[in-house]
Amino acid sequence: MKADEKKAFLRCIEADCDGRYAIDERVYTCRRCGGLLDAQYAFNLANSPGEMKGIFKARRSVDTELDRSGVWRFRELLPFVSDLSKVVTLGEGNTPIYEARWSAEYAELDELRFKHQGMNPTGSFKDNGMTTGVTQAVALGAPAVACASTGNTSASMAAYAARAGIRAFVFIPADQIAYGKLSQSLEFGAKVVEMEGNFDDAMRLVRELADETDLYLLNSINPFRLEGQKAIIIEMMEQCGWEPPDWIVLPGGNLGNTSAFGKALHEMKKLGFIDRMPRLAVIQAEGAAPFYDLFASSDKTVLHPIARPATLATAIRIGNPVSWKKALRALDCTDGIVERVTEQEIADAKAIIGRDGIGCEPASAATLAGTKRLVATGVIDSSANVIAVLTGSLLKDPSYTIGYHTDNLALEDGAMRNPIKGLFANRPIRTVVNKDAIKRALVL
Ligand code: F0G
Repeated sequence: MKADEKKAFLRCIEADCDGRYAIDERVYTCRRCGGLLDAQYAFNLANSPGEMKGIFKARRSVDTELDRSGVWRFRELLPFVSDLSKVVTLGEGNTPIYEARWSAEYAELDELRFKHQGMNPTGSFKDNGMTTGVTQAVALGAPAVACASTGNTSASMAAYAARAGIRAFVFIPADQIAYGKLSQSLEFGAKVVEMEGNFDDAMRLVRELADETDLYLLNSINPFRLEGQKAIIIEMMEQCGWEPPDWIVLPGGNLGNTSAFGKALHEMKKLGFIDRMPRLAVIQAEGAAPFYDLFASSDKTVLHPIARPATLATAIRIGNPVSWKKALRALDCTDGIVERVTEQEIADAKAIIGRDGIGCEPASAATLAGTKRLVATGVIDSSANVIAVLTGSLLKDPSYTIGYHTDNLALEDGAMRNPIKGLFANRPIRTVVNKDAIKRALVL
């Protein structure tokens, strides 16, 4: 049987190649041309989109692990698993959407909502993709999984690998990982390799190792990761009553999430789950913005990597994003755009998101900073319906938050020191143990 006659298969995204592989082949990129691969389906839904929406919703109150998962309850839209009893899940997804009054005012929008992926089991959106990635690793009989990471992928992979009982190897840039994330990988029992280089070095190396050894690669170059991350958007549409917002704003690093969002929207529109496309706005940190440069350039055929990416939003400190071609495709099909923001803008936006009682890690706050810019420049209308995706929890990077609120945060690169001003800092007050002194200090 040819690969494309089966229900699910892998397909090269390069139009002039069209390489195809069976769903159970251990392949990450096209063997013919090196192109990225998509999971493709001959979707044969037994029910209409209207009926499927009812089924998805009803599953939330069913007491099985599979139905309660915010990824697997949408399984008909990611049908690559032949044995659902082998699914590895921690009850991921099902993340809230919050109205954010202060943040809306800050961005000069009438309304702004955040979908908070930091409310996942390990505190980031990576769990949506790791439940599918590790499930595929188990289906392939992989003895061990591996990834390069700026911290969240590794924390999530370590947790899911531990659940599956397989070994995990994480490759991270030494001294560039937020403590919340590093502590998770250690606690979940992964073998942590701290490399004296940056994320892009680690990524290159782990890809070579995965080709030469049994390690199953779980970076977002792995198409099965993206299948799970599609559920972020499917669930968002469900939460919006299947009425897409005007804009979905997200941070961009290695660009796996942007790719997954584009694929989810494209498939949902094709299948009749939504009737129009929201626009994607991808936000990068100024010092790590190769995708912004590409988008601004007249030649979109070559991405020029940034050799020394620099940002305190360490999650997105990436100079050579592997999924840029899929991300560009996602922007094409959603009339999307790319914006970039400064370190100061990210830091202030993060403090504002905190004031809403929500909070997030620095990379996630790039969304509010970017939204503010896009409203100021007239790209996003102040009355637009906007949902920004907060990708990670506030608790991931406590050093950054404390640094900001104590006027002790700076981007350092060799001799260069770029201090961040705590414009919205909430400085702690230190006093002696004396009631009157406290009353004076607090003006009570
Ligand atoms: N936000 C957070 C909190 C992240 O951890 C990442 C990526 C991104 C945004 C960017 O997402 O790569 O899909 O464009 N973190 C990866 C990691 C690279 O290793 O944890 P992307």
